[in-house]
Amino acid sequence: MIDKNLIAYINGEYKELGEIFVSPLTHTLHYGTGVFEGIRAYEINSGVGIRKLPEHISRLFNSASKLFLEIEETQEEIQEICKELLRKNNLKSAYIRPLVYLDDSSVGMQVGKNKTQIFIVAFPWEKYLSDTVKVKISPIRRISEQTTAHDAKICGHYINSYMATGEAKSANFDEPLLLDRTGAIGEGAVANVFFTKGKQLYTPKPERIFAGLVRSAVIEIANDLGYEVIERDIFPEEIKEFDGAFFTGTASEVTIISDITLLNGENIEFNKEVSNIFKETYSKAVSKESKDERGWFELI
Ligand SMILES: Cc1ncc(COP(=O)(O)O)c(C=O)c1O
Repeated sequence: MIDKNLIAYINGEYKELGEIFVSPLTHTLHYGTGVFEGIRAYEINSGVGIRKLPEHISRLFNSASKLFLEIEETQEEIQEICKELLRKNNLKSAYIRPLVYLDDSSVGMQVGKNKTQIFIVAFPWEKYLSDTVKVKISPIRRISEQTTAHDAKICGHYINSYMATGEAKSANFDEPLLLDRTGAIGEGAVANVFFTKGKQLYTPKPERIFAGLVRSAVIEIANDLGYEVIERDIFPEEIKEFDGAFFTGTASEVTIISDITLLNGENIEFNKEVSNIFKETYSKAVSKESKDERGWFELI
C-alpha cells in the first residue's frame, strides 16, 4: 500500500495523496488515453539523485505528443516538481510516477474535448521482481508498432503486459517474454531482454520494442566491460544457444532469468555468471558508493 499521507502533485498543486480523487468518468479510465513514466531516485555518494531525469521527462513529452496530449508545464518545470516531491516527502530513494491523463469532460473518441491533467507521485519502492525469475514465452504477442506507437509509454498499452503477466502467473511462471508481430523475441511485460554468450550480449533491435533507458545503461556498461553488443532479431529457436539471460527496466533494474520455457514446452536453463556481472555493476552504479562516473544522476 502506498502511504496516503505522501504529498503528490496534481494540476499545479501539492496535495496529500489521500485527498486526491478523480471522477469515474475520467476519459483515461475508460480508454487508456494517458501516458506515464517510471523513474527511480537513489541515494548515491554525493546525495539523492534522480537517474536519467531529463531523458524520462523528454520521453513523457514524446509519449504525450503521440496521444495529442498537451502538457501545460515545461519539461524543466516537471523535472523540478519531481525533485521537489522527494524533498517534501523526505525520500532518499523512490520510484517517481508522472501520469498525464484526460479528464471527464466528455466520453467517446472526440479528440480535443477533454482537458489534459497531470499527476506526479513519488514513493518508496524497493524491488519490483525477485532476484531471479522463471520466464515463459507468452502466447500473447507484443502490441505491434503498426497499430500503436511502440516507443510511447501509453496507459492502454499495459493491457498487453498485464494479460501476458496474468497468463504466465497462472501457469506458475514469474514473468512472460512476449514475441513481436514477426515472431521474433520482443520484450518482457515491463522490461527489455538481453542474452549472453561468452563476451557477447544479444538484444532485440529497437524497431519493434520499447527500448528502455536501463537497456541503454546496460549497453553502456557492456562497452565499458569489453562485451560486444549485438542488436538484431532473435528467434525463440535460438534461445538454447545462449549461456544466460536477464531483464532490464527502471522498476525491475537488472533481473536474472533462471530459465525460459518455449511455447512447445521445452525448458532452457541458464548460467547466471555473466548476468550477475551486469546485475552487480548496475547495482553498484545506483548505490551509496556510486560517484556517478557515467553522469546518470540529477541531484535534488
Ligand atoms: C514495455 C516496457 N519495455 C521496457 C521497459 C524498460 O524501460 P526503462 O528501462 O526505461 O524503464 C519498460 C519500462 O518502462 C516497459 O514498460
